[in-house]
Amino acid sequence: MDLQRRLRDARLHHLKNFLDGNPLQNIVSVDVYDRITQPVCLFKTNRKMAMESRTVPDFSSYLTPCILIEHEKMQANIDRMQQVCDRHHVELRPHIKTHKMVAVAKRQLQAGAAGLTCAKIGEAEAMLPSGVESIFIANSIVDPLQGPRLKAIAGQVRELILACTSEGQAVALEQVLAGVGLKLPVMLALDTGLCREGARSIEAGVQLAKVIHRLPHLELHGIYTHEGHSYGVASEKISECARDVLNRLLVLKKRIDPGLRVWPGCSVTAAIMATMPGVDAVRPGAYVFGDLSLTHRVVTMEWAQVALTVLATVVDKPEPGMALIDAGSKVFSSDKTPNGQSACSLDGRRIAVTNLSEEHGFITGEDVDELKIGQKLRFVGAHVCPVLNLTDEVHVIHEDGRVDCWPVEARGRVR
Ligand SMILES: Cc1ncc(COP(=O)(O)O)c(C=O)c1O
Repeated sequence: MDLQRRLRDARLHHLKNFLDGNPLQNIVSVDVYDRITQPVCLFKTNRKMAMESRTVPDFSSYLTPCILIEHEKMQANIDRMQQVCDRHHVELRPHIKTHKMVAVAKRQLQAGAAGLTCAKIGEAEAMLPSGVESIFIANSIVDPLQGPRLKAIAGQVRELILACTSEGQAVALEQVLAGVGLKLPVMLALDTGLCREGARSIEAGVQLAKVIHRLPHLELHGIYTHEGHSYGVASEKISECARDVLNRLLVLKKRIDPGLRVWPGCSVTAAIMATMPGVDAVRPGAYVFGDLSLTHRVVTMEWAQVALTVLATVVDKPEPGMALIDAGSKVFSSDKTPNGQSACSLDGRRIAVTNLSEEHGFITGEDVDELKIGQKLRFVGAHVCPVLNLTDEVHVIHEDGRVDCWPVEARGRVR
């Protein structure tokens, strides 16, 4: 079987799995169906603009693979989200799990962010030098061994807020805090469709609130949700999805206490959520850099707004129709778009990373045979967050040609 045939079969297999396993398949529109299943559409959309930026930088002196950040684009992403929030008097509490860098956190805070959201205690510790005053750790903390770390962080910020994700977790968190004599505000998690953490119904949310009220070291501050399922919604349905998520939060708030804070908002929904009455804060993460998920799976960012790329070298062309680059799953992670792409070329070439081993990316697509061994190319990954967790530092390129090297302080801080 020739390579094109094998690739076509693999794509069909992937598509079948995607549709079979996708709970949202009924609302996947033809447009979105095409976009997520036809790589060619993706190339066409971006080709003109991407070709224009093809000539700009010369990366021949960079050792690869490496991560490049265009400073002005990143700053524009930070400012744009902040401006929407400011206009609607909604707090922005960006999730730092995407960038994991003090330098980026500082820029978010300088722009006006009310605080930072972290996934793990280790991330919160790593972000303290940013000068952050309010931290929300949006995860289920249950281990008494973590108590002293929480106490140390609480002593260095104005406000440390934790997550309460179920009755069992609330009881365990109470023990953690009681063990170190700490009383902290908590955000009650409501599941609104992702089916990860959080009360599974309004009634379960009301019950969880009653449990929290009985626990002396927890103080109910508000309700949050992570509506990650919005990444699987057709672009034209995002507002409807956001409205549905917010309605559920507001119903629960009314049942528990009308004074509670309401914090939804990921990168897909945040800019819309911020305009909706009843939202007090949003917590987008990936918006700061952008990736294939935000530019193609759901279209909430323009291709030209993508600020982070992986620079990789073509290291071999083992057979016609295929090339290998020096960036594999240890650079891109194993996350893929639903049509099986780990990354796409930034510059509009009709090539994509369609398979990975640890140290190799497999490049296929119409333009692959034009590639030259030794050529350096920039790629946009399927999902940017794990990419930062796989690198010690990033190259930050300024419009005036300056290049900085920033450490990724919270890289690997998964505890
Ligand atoms: C609890 C929570 N809040 C916010 C976010 C930010 O999501 P995104 O990177 O899609 O903006 C995430 C992402 O996983 C999350 O888990």
